[in-house]
Amino acid sequence: MQIRQISADERLDVVFPLSFYAFSPSPGTDADREAYASRAPYYGTVTALVAEEEGRPLASVTAIPMRQNVRGVVHDMAGIATVVSHPEARRKGYVRQLLTQLLELSREQDRLVSALYPFRPSFYARFGYVGVPRVRTAIFAPEGLDHLQRIELPGEVVRLTPAAAFAEFSTLMHRLLGERHGFAVFDEVFSGWLRDDKTQWVALARVGGEVVGAVPYRVERYGGDLVAGDLLTTGPLARTLLLQYLARHVDQVARVQVKISTDEVPDLWGTDLAVLTEGRTEFPRQGAPMVRLLSMRALNGLHTPASLDVTVEVTGDSFLAGRYRIAGDAGSLAVEETKDDPQATLTCAGISALAYGVLDPLEVTLRGFGQVDTDALEMLGALFPKKMPYLFADF
Ligand SMILES: CC(C)(COP(=O)(O)OP(=O)(O)OC[C@H]1O[C@@H](n2cnc3c(N)ncnc32)[C@H](O)[C@@H]1OP(=O)(O)O)[C@@H](O)C(=O)NCCC(=O)NCCS
Repeated sequence: MQIRQISADERLDVVFPLSFYAFSPSPGTDADREAYASRAPYYGTVTALVAEEEGRPLASVTAIPMRQNVRGVVHDMAGIATVVSHPEARRKGYVRQLLTQLLELSREQDRLVSALYPFRPSFYARFGYVGVPRVRTAIFAPEGLDHLQRIELPGEVVRLTPAAAFAEFSTLMHRLLGERHGFAVFDEVFSGWLRDDKTQWVALARVGGEVVGAVPYRVERYGGDLVAGDLLTTGPLARTLLLQYLARHVDQVARVQVKISTDEVPDLWGTDLAVLTEGRTEFPRQGAPMVRLLSMRALNGLHTPASLDVTVEVTGDSFLAGRYRIAGDAGSLAVEETKDDPQATLTCAGISALAYGVLDPLEVTLRGFGQVDTDALEMLGALFPKKMPYLFADF
């Protein structure tokens, strides 16, 4: 078996047959191939590897260039996608070799973190990834937001096609990238698919001419559901503007479904609002995303409220293994290698869970991601307070 990096031009012949078989009803038609070919331009900047036997492609992996906010610092990120192997070549370790090489390449490209949506989390746990929350869905009848129908708000909401909304939508995405822990964006090339999506509207909220919120959506049918993507907001005014817009569909749709981050509490959006807030994970289609650090350098500069230091040893991961002194000073973290005895021994999943704020140090130990000395439990917890990331992008 040989591994090589493929160009965007080869994707249709090399990756399409593998990924179509893995993710679509098959056998497919020429129209399926054409539909895939039409998406080729979005893959111009991805890094893709293929494993071949005598020139026959048998497995492939892809990294999408993305950026992500981790505790206030925006890192280049490898968004792992299209992880596939031919059924004849499964369980031979090809994907393990491909993924390991892809993560190495990503590090060389200075991507300090990585994220993915797993078909089965235990598969990616073997590669050091740890789970972060999947977005929730709020489902409600628009009548519940009746109180918003007539109130005057200092802003406006406009309905646009994704192409017409794209420039302002991108501005909003990049503002949220800077402001929200966990938020991630694609590069300009890959985000083209958002611009060219013809299946949705985008409601854009503006205040003083500046975009402050957006929600992509489609109306399934008259009297049916309005199905929205993520409610992207910069604050309560943006959220209220968008909810008012959704409320004004009261005579048109029976229900609104909208995706929200875990820190949104729809119960508090209105006095008489009956709402179901659902967080559902299912495999293989709806896994919660997973993340990992690709380098301990990713910790430098992360925001922390604590001024203290802890020595940790990271084990079992070729990219992160070593002893480090992690110090909080004047609001941010600094990490350096050390020879001191460690106060905590962590796996890649353990240190990644702390960095992303999804587990506290005791939970890290209870999940089997490391051992932490009793006095270091509190110190690590102070350096890395829990803080749920909002990973918006689905890929
Ligand atoms: C998932 C898939 C890519 C695995 O490919 P594969 O070639 O069998 O993977 P490998 O042989 O390299 O296995 C890698 C490791 O994962 C383990 N593994 C394989 N399938 C697993 C599963 N379903 N759950 C947990 N671990 C699994 C293997 O035992 C191996 O572990 P080890 O290296 O620690 O011994 C392949 O089955 C596939 O193409 N499935 C359909 C498409 C899909 O679901 N892709 C993933 C999208 S996120």
